[in-house]
Amino acid sequence: MATIFCTATSLDGYIADDEESLSWLFATSGDADPAGYTPTEPDPSLPDLHFDRFYAGVGSIVCGINTFEWVRRDLTKDGTPFVWPYTEPSWIVTHRDPAPVEGVEFFSGDVTDLHPLLVDAADGKDVWIVGGGDLAGQFADHGLLDQVWVHQCPVVLGSGRPLLPRRLRLHRQKIETHGQFTAMLFDVVGPEPRVST
Ligand SMILES: NC(=O)c1ccc[n+]([C@@H]2O[C@H](COP(=O)([O-])OP(=O)(O)OC[C@H]3O[C@@H](n4cnc5c(N)ncnc54)[C@H](OP(=O)(O)O)[C@@H]3O)[C@@H](O)[C@H]2O)c1
Repeated sequence: MATIFCTATSLDGYIADDEESLSWLFATSGDADPAGYTPTEPDPSLPDLHFDRFYAGVGSIVCGINTFEWVRRDLTKDGTPFVWPYTEPSWIVTHRDPAPVEGVEFFSGDVTDLHPLLVDAADGKDVWIVGGGDLAGQFADHGLLDQVWVHQCPVVLGSGRPLLPRRLRLHRQKIETHGQFTAMLFDVVGPEPRVST
């Protein structure tokens, strides 16, 4: 069981552009579907870092309120009533007081209080931090982020929502290419020291 930040990113390290759009992600061709909201059984022929393989190991989910609202906007843009697309126990972190949504719990506070709930709910499987980057950073601040799994798109955006706004050393475990995506799995080593020169 691991706590994993799995996301798509631009080459210059943004997970959403400065209008919170993911059009650049959906315009990238590849075998992987990193934004895949449809639970699927992993095909044994899939490459190791395919999103479906990652998702098959997920037991619980956490994301920030902006990510949740993006998902809600995206899934209701054709007038469809909103249904949270994941069946795994899911938490949304926010200081706001949203109306209840079936299938999600809202949480406000220190992620060290949330992490044991996520681990219990995952029941031996992985905890997926969907985003954003600062939320993943909050877990990393307390040594609770084990891995970073990215599907990098060959696009530069110049500005947007940062991938992981911390100084952290990672150790690359594996790299694959899926069409135009570069899939990379890293272990988190720990804080990267500043060395004055
Ligand atoms: N490329 C991808 O695959 C991918 C993946 C995930 C997300 N995204 C996109 O990236 C963007 C992420 O947005 P974002 O960077 O703003 O991050 P976010 O994590 O979705 O939302 C951040 C907000 O969550 C709340 N929050 C964070 N930590 C909290 C805590 N410990 N307790 C209570 N509330 C807390 C705060 O909002 P309040 O104080 O207002 O409650 C904070 O401003 C979205 O547009 C999303 O669609 C892309």
